[in-house]
Amino acid sequence: MGQAFALCFSRKVGKENITVTDIVPEKRNLAVEMGIAFASDIKFLADTSELVIIAVKPKDAKSVLEKLKDYKGILVSIMAGAKIEDIEGIVGKDKKIVRVMPNIAVAVGSGVMAITDNGKLTEGEREKVEEIFLSCGSLYRIDENLFDPFTALAGSGPAYILAFLDGLALAGVHQGFQYNQALKIAIDTVIGSAKLLKEFSQNPNEIITKVTSPAGTTIEGLKFLEAKGFKGIVMECIEKTAEKAKKLKK
Ligand SMILES: NC(=O)c1ccc[n+]([C@@H]2O[C@H](COP(=O)([O-])OP(=O)(O)OC[C@H]3O[C@@H](n4cnc5c(N)ncnc54)[C@H](OP(=O)(O)O)[C@@H]3O)[C@@H](O)[C@H]2O)c1
Repeated sequence: MGQAFALCFSRKVGKENITVTDIVPEKRNLAVEMGIAFASDIKFLADTSELVIIAVKPKDAKSVLEKLKDYKGILVSIMAGAKIEDIEGIVGKDKKIVRVMPNIAVAVGSGVMAITDNGKLTEGEREKVEEIFLSCGSLYRIDENLFDPFTALAGSGPAYILAFLDGLALAGVHQGFQYNQALKIAIDTVIGSAKLLKEFSQNPNEIITKVTSPAGTTIEGLKFLEAKGFKGIVMECIEKTAEKAKKLKK
């Protein structure tokens, strides 16, 4: 995740304005390959940065945050499950803390991210942070209590969309296509449908109605999906994921 963000940000603010660090010294080689500066000391990195992003596993949060107790800049955490109050508990309530929940598509600059903060940033700082993160995808300012549902929708969402795509591709194989060709057709169908929805409509049903002629083929398939409780299954899947995300933190 840290590498993916470094790549996106470098396109926005320039590689010369980014420094990375990692507990594994060998990661320096990766940074060099990317043309990005590597600091061996996290305190040095913080002293020379306006904004620090913590992209370590939640289990490593404490050891990293302890070293940033004196940091006065903007501290952004992308750690799943680490609440703003948990971070404040270590670095202090007076610090400028931002929480971002990204998904894996940040790696291709099409991430879906949630953002919130502890209210200590100026409006200008908020805008600056948002502008930087927007270089990695889309950004939604939401209440922190919606972060678990967001993690289910956008964080785990790609796994469910990809499982659906695999199902479509297998259906194509069942109908006589090679898997790879069926998968490409399925991918293009999903991208095209999402694009149509984004550009021409606020509601999927408007487009569904357009492709569903009376007594035609599409309504046959839709009837089957309804009979099997398709949307209910999707809703329950997200509900279970969100419940699990909540439980993991206890
Ligand atoms: N992957 C996702 O799709 C996703 C989505 C949303 C949020 N997140 C959050 O993003 C964070 C990073 O996830 P990831 O999947 O990228 O994990 P990861 O591949 O394990 O990356 C974490 C990196 O931080 C390094 N690190 C650990 N302790 C450190 C320390 N004290 N100082 C400096 N660097 C240290 C790790 O080194 P080692 O290699 O030695 O462990 C590793 O390179 C997690 O908190 C996760 O909850 C991930």
